[in-house]
Amino acid sequence: MRLPLFLLLSWSALAAEPAPFSHKTHAGLNLPCLFCHKTAASAERATFPEWKTCRTCHTEKAEQPIPSRRVYKLPDFVFFSHARHKMECAACHGDVKAQAKLEPHRSTKMAACVDCHKEHSATVVCNACHELGQ
Ligand code: HEC
Ligand code: HEC
Ligand code: HEC
Ligand code: HEC
Ligand code: HEC
Repeated sequence: MRLPLFLLLSWSALAAEPAPFSHKTHAGLNLPCLFCHKTAASAERATFPEWKTCRTCHTEKAEQPIPSRRVYKLPDFVFFSHARHKMECAACHGDVKAQAKLEPHRSTKMAACVDCHKEHSATVVCNACHELGQ
């Protein structure tokens, strides 16, 4: 079934959905990942950008919500830190710039973490990733 365009437009305005963000559209600009994900090398969380970062270029647009759809999400009982991984983003997130809408590249299941840790002789001690009872 096809909806008239004006209905779709007014629906999306009501829902106040953030405009989609495409890494692919922005790939040609060669922005460093850290331009938007400011703490991806220095803290546990990579974080998502704020509008003021987008406004560097989109000066003509009014402020709008930034999409922050979670593609990679660990349960709370797992400890993960970006800063502790001195690796290319692509090792876990794949070729982000080739994708208009991100799809998971590497599994975030325990077996996938442990496999890579073994491959790189990194720790597989339970306590590295879990806060187990002392
Ligand atoms: C060793 C694998 C690995 C590497 C390397 C890695 N990430 Fe991640 N990334 C993850 C995992 C796992 C999550 C989910 C974390 C969670 O839910 O706590 C994640 C989450 C994210 C998120 C969303 C949530 C947040 O704020 O953390 C962003 C954005 C992100 N990564 C960007 C990057 C960028 C940019 C780089 C390179 C500088 C990078 N990642 C390197 C595994 C990785
Ligand atoms: C370094 C400059 C720059 C930055 C920073 C930037 N953009 Fe863009 N963006 C562009 C260019 C260039 C285009 C393509 C031509 C156009 O629409 O002006 C574009 C296109 C877009 C589009 C429409 C086209 C599409 O399909 O993607 C959206 C939506 C968008 N950007 C959102 C954002 C958001 C959200 C941010 C911040 C997270 C952001 N941009 C940061 C330069 C930038
Ligand atoms: C101009 C800003 C901008 C740049 C540059 C940028 N990103 Fe993003 N990134 C975003 C935004 C905005 C989202 C949220 C998109 C969504 O919700 O659909 C995002 C989402 C992600 C996610 C998904 C996080 C999750 O799990 O939810 C990953 C992974 C990611 N980016 C990695 C990268 C990597 C790697 C680079 C460099 C190659 C990069 N990004 C460059 C703005 C940017
Ligand atoms: C692509 C390979 C790879 C993947 C996937 C990966 N890791 Fe790692 N991880 C490493 C390496 C290698 C190190 C050692 C530090 C370094 O050299 O980057 C490390 C270090 C760590 C550390 C610090 C350990 C310490 O105390 O020294 C934690 C915690 C960690 N990883 C958790 C995780 C979790 C949780 C996942 C899955 C969601 C994961 N890692 C997925 C390669 C990986
Ligand atoms: C490199 C990181 C890492 C190490 C080391 C690790 N785990 Fe995990 N573990 C995870 C992640 C990520 C999850 C959540 C995703 C999943 O369920 O696979 C998880 C989930 C679990 C769960 C919940 C499973 C479920 O089905 O809900 C248990 C129990 C667990 N781990 C026990 C352990 C024990 C015991 C050890 C030591 C032998 C260990 N883990 C070592 C990363 C790790």
